[in-house]
Amino acid sequence: MLTEEIQQIRKESDKDFSSVDNAKKLEELRIKYLSRNGLLANLFDNLKNVSKEEKPSLGKELNEFRNSLTEKYNSLKSNLDNASDQLKDQIDLTLPGIKRIIGSKHIIIQTLDEIKSIFNGMGFSVFEGPELESDYNNFEALNFPPDHPARDMQDTFFISKDFLLRTHTSPVQIRTMNKYKPPVRAIMPGLAYRNEAINARSYCVFHQVEGLYVDTDVTFAELKGTLVSFARQFYMNDLKYRFRPSFFPFTEPSAEMDITCFICKGKGCKICKKTGWLEILGCGMVDPNVFNNVDYDSEKYTGYAFGMGIERIALLKYGIDDIRRFFENDLRFLKQF
Ligand code: PHE
Repeated sequence: MLTEEIQQIRKESDKDFSSVDNAKKLEELRIKYLSRNGLLANLFDNLKNVSKEEKPSLGKELNEFRNSLTEKYNSLKSNLDNASDQLKDQIDLTLPGIKRIIGSKHIIIQTLDEIKSIFNGMGFSVFEGPELESDYNNFEALNFPPDHPARDMQDTFFISKDFLLRTHTSPVQIRTMNKYKPPVRAIMPGLAYRNEAINARSYCVFHQVEGLYVDTDVTFAELKGTLVSFARQFYMNDLKYRFRPSFFPFTEPSAEMDITCFICKGKGCKICKKTGWLEILGCGMVDPNVFNNVDYDSEKYTGYAFGMGIERIALLKYGIDDIRRFFENDLRFLKQF
């Protein structure tokens, strides 16, 4: 009787196990045959009702049956597990892709890079200094008298009595000369801060590029030659230029440089206020008082310095109408460059 039962369940299990194709079905079969209340446990239970003579051989048969079923179960289980791992590794090429947004250089940095590369080509190194500066480096060493209006709280962001956010990149001249003996030939790009009313033409923070060349026998003619060469490379080859006398405490004589308005080619337009000229930078010969402050021999050395605002240059070059655009980081604006 038990033998027949075993035969029948064996047949049934052969059929069941041969058709398993997923983990859920397999688990159902494990419960049906191999669990504590499953068909095999039941057969083992029935063993106690058979005669002494039959017991050993039936017990053996049952054990073998259970072992072979367990083996079948284990091998199917590991096959199914592997298959599901493989599925996880598969790439579904029909899914939409992830769009990668690639950043680009800000238009101000692009402009700076261009300026750097032109001055590099003329033998200038690049130096940088901190934005938080001492009153001494920003004003005093640069020959600003104590009552100069720029030293007023109205124009300068003071951090304390002696420290401030630099109002121009000129203090990097002082740092450079304190660190290196002449000859020195460098440009010094960076941010500057001024406590100004914010509008389309002025902002509380902006970029400048400072220039400095000190050696024996540096002349104003060299200053002009260098700046004209720069402007021709940066703006346009056939521009006209003019130097107007100006004043800065740290240069003597001082000048401002104008170039032909490259928008209207000198005919007169809104950008150049109908003059045909655009002011692009301030410059001059380094004042001997500045040399004395950095322990350069003012009898032996001469030098020139210049400074230009990058936002202004970029505004003009790309015809942008509002300086605030550079700082808003609106992608619709930035993407155009
Ligand atoms: N520092 C001056 C400014 O901010 C520019 C300048 C630099 C002028 C060097 C002369 C020489 O306006």
